[in-house]
Amino acid sequence: MSQLRVVFAFATAAFAYTLAVTTTAAPGGQVRLAAGQAGAVQTLSGYVGSDTCLGCHDDKQGMAGTIHGKAAHPRSPEAAQGCETCHGPGQPHAESGDPDLIRSFTAIPAREASATCTSCHNRGVHSQWSGSMHDTRNLSCVTCHSVHSPQSETAQLKTSSEIETCAQCHKAQVLKVQRVAHMPVREGKMTCTSCHNPHGSTNIRLLKVGNWVNESCVSCHTEKRGPFLWEHAAGRESCISCHDPHGSSNDRMLIAKLPMLCQRCHIGTRHPSTIYDNLAVQNGSNRIIGRGCVNCHAQIHGSNHPSGSTFLR
Ligand code: HEC
Ligand code: HEC
Ligand code: HEC
Ligand code: HEC
Ligand code: HEC
Ligand code: HEC
Ligand code: HEC
Ligand code: HEC
Ligand code: HEC
Ligand code: HEC
Repeated sequence: MSQLRVVFAFATAAFAYTLAVTTTAAPGGQVRLAAGQAGAVQTLSGYVGSDTCLGCHDDKQGMAGTIHGKAAHPRSPEAAQGCETCHGPGQPHAESGDPDLIRSFTAIPAREASATCTSCHNRGVHSQWSGSMHDTRNLSCVTCHSVHSPQSETAQLKTSSEIETCAQCHKAQVLKVQRVAHMPVREGKMTCTSCHNPHGSTNIRLLKVGNWVNESCVSCHTEKRGPFLWEHAAGRESCISCHDPHGSSNDRMLIAKLPMLCQRCHIGTRHPSTIYDNLAVQNGSNRIIGRGCVNCHAQIHGSNHPSGSTFLR
């Protein structure tokens, strides 16, 4: 089948259709309309075909090397209207060279740019885009992606690495992964998108998995999933009551040093200072040093031992 197809599900369709009916003299390409009854071959005005575009924009030949330029891929733009799948029918522009007569992704509103892409990318990881935090903050697909001049090896990003993409706007989180205690993000074993889906999610904070922070954490740290016979209320509430997911200067990415971490919630009087007083350590301070609390309360994430109610075993 060499005929081109107009898939009317495209957001571009309305635009395409308007031009098709309003432009009269139209020696455009032969186009098979796939909407409604199949088989009606019409002369669809407004489209000139990629070869004509490339006649003036030969620097855009590069697209042929990307998935969008693969005619053999049935769902690619090339298998539809080529350049005009995304840029809309270009006849008026091609005849005049007037940049105002063609859809320019730098000129149209973010929502409209994204709608062009989501006409195809609307399933799986992209199904939650509409109304997501990035969508509502006026980012669009082309804020992070460049389809003509991608800099990354995968996913056609505008920057050479994913973390650089995120760093443009989220410096604080990116800097935290440089701290001593961090998950292996800067080592390249994980990325921001190991946990987040920048395209939207059903969880808070664009978290990829689950409906709750903990579901995200235990998707990798399965041994912390529980349920435990004795649960630590702090952990049941959220792992981030104690850990900073991006990194920290404290051991194990804790949000405060031990024992201060524990003493944010547990009053330090009497316990365990009594123990230390008995051992005649220094002056009876109720702040014990170092890893004190978890030396004894080793099962801090929860215990399945019958007498583990205080997480000692
Ligand atoms: C007769 C030559 C010619 C043809 C054919 C042509 N263009 Fe252009 N195009 C231009 C010129 C001139 C400009 C303005 C200068 C520039 O940005 O390079 C332009 C600009 C553009 C822009 C940028 C608009 C902007 O606001 O910056 C896009 C996108 C574009 N063309 C796409 C296309 C597409 C898609 C086709 C095929 C349907 C096409 N062009 C066919 C000459 C042409
Ligand atoms: C006509 C349909 C169509 C349109 C419109 C479209 N894409 Fe795609 N895109 C595809 C197909 C097909 C693939 C191959 C992957 C797949 O099968 O989902 C793809 C792949 C990609 C990839 C992955 C590339 C890689 O090398 O891994 C990115 C990123 C992408 N598209 C971004 C965009 C952006 C941004 C837009 C809007 C400017 C857009 N696409 C518009 C069909 C489309
Ligand atoms: C905030 C930056 C950002 C925005 C905005 C964004 N993306 Fe992405 N996209 C990424 C990153 C990073 C990756 C690679 C990691 C991944 O796959 O999650 C990616 C991967 C992709 C891929 C290839 C991976 C796959 O499995 O499908 C496609 C296709 C894609 N994006 C399309 C889109 C479309 C369409 C939009 C707009 C609805 C969009 N992106 C908006 C950052 C972004
Ligand atoms: C998958 C959708 C898509 C297809 C197909 C597509 N473009 Fe683009 N085009 C874009 C986006 C998005 C931009 C904004 C810059 C970018 O993402 O690289 C753009 C930008 C442009 C520009 C503006 C100038 C510039 O360098 O940024 C020109 C000219 C252009 N495209 C021409 C073409 C031509 C010619 C073809 C066919 C060979 C084509 N485009 C196919 C999406 C597309
Ligand atoms: C162009 C700027 C920009 C880029 C690039 C960007 N973001 Fe965002 N992101 C925002 C804005 C704006 C918000 C809204 C909250 C805010 O102001 O911090 C946001 C919010 C978020 C949130 C919090 C969502 C919530 O529900 O509170 C996460 C998580 C996030 N981004 C992850 C990422 C990741 C991962 C990347 C890289 C793939 C990325 N962002 C790239 C602008 C950006
Ligand atoms: C191990 C999982 C994980 C990784 C990896 C990760 N994040 Fe997060 N991120 C989270 C969690 C969990 C939250 C929610 C924290 C909260 O609600 O306080 C979050 C929150 C955010 C927020 C919202 C603001 C905030 O701090 O609460 C932004 C923005 C963000 N992350 C960006 C990034 C960027 C950029 C990267 C890569 C450098 C990244 N994240 C890597 C799990 C992760
Ligand atoms: C995508 C998988 C993944 C997710 C999701 C994830 N982690 Fe991790 N985490 C890792 C890996 C890998 C390591 C490094 C393990 C190692 O070095 O043995 C790690 C290490 C840790 C460490 C030890 C750090 C150190 O300094 O030793 C803590 C604490 C931690 N994660 C907490 C969390 C919390 C809290 C969450 C949820 C916000 C979370 N993780 C989500 C993969 C993940
Ligand atoms: C009450 C505070 C607290 C909460 C809540 C908490 N942790 Fe921890 N976590 C710690 C402490 C303290 C350590 C260090 C233990 C040590 O050094 O012996 C630690 C260590 C870790 C480690 C690294 C060592 C190990 O045991 O594997 C991982 C991974 C971890 N936590 C994941 C999680 C996850 C996932 C959650 C949520 C389900 C969570 N933590 C909730 C306090 C907490
Ligand atoms: C975010 C607040 C918070 C933090 C931080 C926290 N806890 Fe807890 N912890 C609680 C709550 C709430 C309970 C349940 C108290 C109850 O049921 O009376 C609890 C229960 C306990 C219990 C069992 C108490 C009992 O009476 O059975 C022990 C032991 C304990 N925590 C130790 C620690 C240690 C050690 C740390 C530091 C590693 C710590 N906690 C950090 C909130 C916290
Ligand atoms: C030398 C071992 C040891 C150290 C160190 C220790 N604990 Fe305990 N903790 C115990 C024992 C033993 C109990 C009593 C268990 C019982 O009665 O079943 C206990 C009980 C508790 C309880 C529940 C009863 C109560 O008093 O409310 C909490 C909460 C608690 N510890 C928190 C902490 C915190 C916070 C730290 C660090 C500042 C800490 N523990 C350090 C051994 C220790």
